[in-house]
Amino acid sequence: MDLHNLLEYAKEAQKKAYVPYSNFQVGAALLTKSGKIYTGCNIENASYGATNCAERTAFFKAVSEGERDFQAIAIVSSSGQETFPCGICRQVMAEFMLGGFVVLQTADGEIKEYQTKDLLPFAFTEEDLSK
Ligand code: THU
Repeated sequence: MDLHNLLEYAKEAQKKAYVPYSNFQVGAALLTKSGKIYTGCNIENASYGATNCAERTAFFKAVSEGERDFQAIAIVSSSGQETFPCGICRQVMAEFMLGGFVVLQTADGEIKEYQTKDLLPFAFTEEDLSK
């Protein structure tokens, strides 16, 4: 999968963002190991805490369709700069994509890759539950 292409899917998903409170649109495109793409946008709520980030929308859509194995997620936002995933989304990435990577694009168009492991060092995982 061409990472430019994955970013294009994320940009399309960003258009669907429901953001009446922050007006900050985020789009994500999640790539499975088998090559399928699931997209997501952020979905806000008048009760702010019920807001769902674009990344988790993509993961939850995919997992609810039976997917378990992911290789990468592209994230874009209305900032037009690199938007790093929040802590909760990093934890979800650790659950389903610990060996994968995040794709971001800088304001001048450069594509950057960040390993999930580097974004959430010492992640809490299922192994911790059996200690
Ligand atoms: N947001 C995301 O969708 N993903 C991120 O990685 C950072 C934050 C959303 C949540 C909220 O709708 C808005 O951006 C402002 O925090």
